[in-house]
Amino acid sequence: MEVEAQSNQQVKKKKMMMGTDRKKSSRRRRCICLSVTAVILSLGMLFLILGLTVFKTKRPVTTVNSISLDDLDLSIDIARLSVRLNVTLDVSVSVENPNRVGFKYTNSTAFLRYKENDVGEVPIPAGKIDARDTRSLNLTLTLMADRLLSDSNLYSDAASGTLPFQTYIRISGKVRLLFNIHVVTYTTCDLQIDLINRAVSNQKCQYKTKL
Ligand SMILES: *[C@@H]1O[C@H](CO)[C@@H](O)[C@H](O)[C@H]1NC(C)=O
Ligand SMILES: *[C@@H]1O[C@H](CO)[C@@H](O)[C@H](O)[C@H]1NC(C)=O
Ligand SMILES: *[C@@H]1O[C@H](CO)[C@@H](O)[C@H](O)[C@H]1NC(C)=O
Repeated sequence: MEVEAQSNQQVKKKKMMMGTDRKKSSRRRRCICLSVTAVILSLGMLFLILGLTVFKTKRPVTTVNSISLDDLDLSIDIARLSVRLNVTLDVSVSVENPNRVGFKYTNSTAFLRYKENDVGEVPIPAGKIDARDTRSLNLTLTLMADRLLSDSNLYSDAASGTLPFQTYIRISGKVRLLFNIHVVTYTTCDLQIDLINRAVSNQKCQYKTKL
């Protein structure tokens, strides 16, 4: 008797559950419909925000206006096949911010390189360039002679009359539209120092920006 009563109750329960199942499935359909709409809406918002920020963000433009030789002292010791060299370069750079909002850059550094080794550096202190403004930077790059002494190419380069150097400037910062967008500009210039005319020649610059 008890067993029958139990099974009767179970049947009742099953019937009730089937009823709620039907209700549940239509609720579930509505739920899926709502969440699909929500996903589509948030994707739309996402693209709108991206459109208003990342794709609206313009890259700051760094330009090297000039590189000139400020100081050059050279002595070649033929007996010891060694060179003593002091070089100072004046590098004039302008950074243009084409955005409608300010570009804030962090502490950066300009490097002087010889055969891919850093032989001099100058800090570029953090700053801000207003909307659609251009900042000019005058950088003085001085060769740290002790870093060059060890380079065995120096003597043969100096004897040939030209020394190949490279300047490298990396400026990293943020443009704030709806949120901060990180921007980095890289400027690399290859140049030759003509020891006879005491001048900079064959200057070639390359620019790269990453958003
Ligand atoms: C380079 O500069 C240092 C210090 O300013 C000086 O002692 C040295 O004589 C200079 N070297 C040359 C080749 O003029
Ligand atoms: C940037 O450089 C200045 C001066 O050299 C220093 O006082 C400051 O702490 C530096 N800021 C950062 C974030 O390193
Ligand atoms: C950089 O040098 C140029 C020319 O020598 C000058 O006109 C300009 O005002 C200087 N800029 C800064 C920031 O010192």
